[in-house]
Amino acid sequence: MIYADYNGTSKLKDSVKKYLIERLEGPFGNPNAIHSIGNQIKMAYEECRKICADLLGAEPHQVIFTSGSSEGISQVFYSHLALNKCNKKLLISEIEHSAIKNVSKTLEKMGFSVDFLKTDPNGKVIIPDEKKEYCIAALMAANNETGVVQDYNEFAKWCRENKTPFFCDTTQYIGKMPFSFKDSELDFAIVSSHKIGSLGGSGILLVKDPQKLKPIIFGGGQEYSLRGGTQNYIGVECMTLALKELVEDMHNSEAQDKIKKDFEKRIKNQIPEAIIIGENVKRLPNTTLLSIPGIHGQGLQIELESRDIFVTTSSACSDNEPETSHVLKSMGLDDSVGRSVIRISLDEKASEKDYADIEDAIIKSYKVLKKIKSY
Ligand SMILES: Cc1ncc(COP(=O)(O)O)c(C=O)c1O
Repeated sequence: MIYADYNGTSKLKDSVKKYLIERLEGPFGNPNAIHSIGNQIKMAYEECRKICADLLGAEPHQVIFTSGSSEGISQVFYSHLALNKCNKKLLISEIEHSAIKNVSKTLEKMGFSVDFLKTDPNGKVIIPDEKKEYCIAALMAANNETGVVQDYNEFAKWCRENKTPFFCDTTQYIGKMPFSFKDSELDFAIVSSHKIGSLGGSGILLVKDPQKLKPIIFGGGQEYSLRGGTQNYIGVECMTLALKELVEDMHNSEAQDKIKKDFEKRIKNQIPEAIIIGENVKRLPNTTLLSIPGIHGQGLQIELESRDIFVTTSSACSDNEPETSHVLKSMGLDDSVGRSVIRISLDEKASEKDYADIEDAIIKSYKVLKKIKSY
């Protein structure tokens, strides 16, 4: 079996699984309690904050533990709603994840206006020339469907010049590419534990100036009163372990990229009509979005599944929608390409053999599906 939907959710890392099994022996306790068990857990939790801050190039007080990326996004966008000074103008790229698109739509109903950053045919978001101040701007560091890496440092400069706080959705980027919060001059960034080899239900919101943030979950003063609720300490311990391993193993990413690109070349040689979306620009080393016009993406996905290979058609959230995704539409791709995509996203340990097995399965599936060309 090859699990090739890492961008949807990752498998649990072996080290995390081992840690978790042992950790389930205890101790358990409320980190806010004053007894020694609570204290011990709180100390370990705060140590995790320091380790995560260090790995991400941030200060410990800039690390807010959350339940995942969607929560971090909602909190930052709602914080701006709650801040009176805000001019009620939002700027987001057309290819943002639905977590950002949908919170923006909600704010629109509350009187905000939304401007969109356009995308070029390679999947890169175009940084505007004109000057305009916004309440908040959002551009993802790397797209979950195409893997295309965006010029977020350049956009951070634009935001600074336009006095606009910058939210960078780093969900797919952190853990796959080198990252430093300090060096990139972002105001907000996020980590989702289930995308980096740990459990679902924890995440990190990085905030340059936490004083400007407001809580959306009120509770007993946890997370510097910015995120109430008893801490998910085991989730945070596991996430810290996964993040540490990924950041420390990052030197492998160039080799990963090469193995992936060799695979893409072989596919294109054997299927001349195959298209690799975003092929000409920098992409995440683990992601291939492949389109074979004339072969329905869902058909190919089912064929591959029958050969024990698990891919998706674009992002998990839109798998049930037979339409071309908003990301591909933004790139100007039509339905003949958009309906034919499958996303192959592997983990950082993917081998040449994994790619060779996927290649073999794609070619065999293609030969079957070609006989019943769907459109
Ligand atoms: C780019 C991006 N942003 C945000 C999210 C939402 O993350 P979470 O599942 O942690 O809420 C995802 C997950 O699919 C994602 O890929």
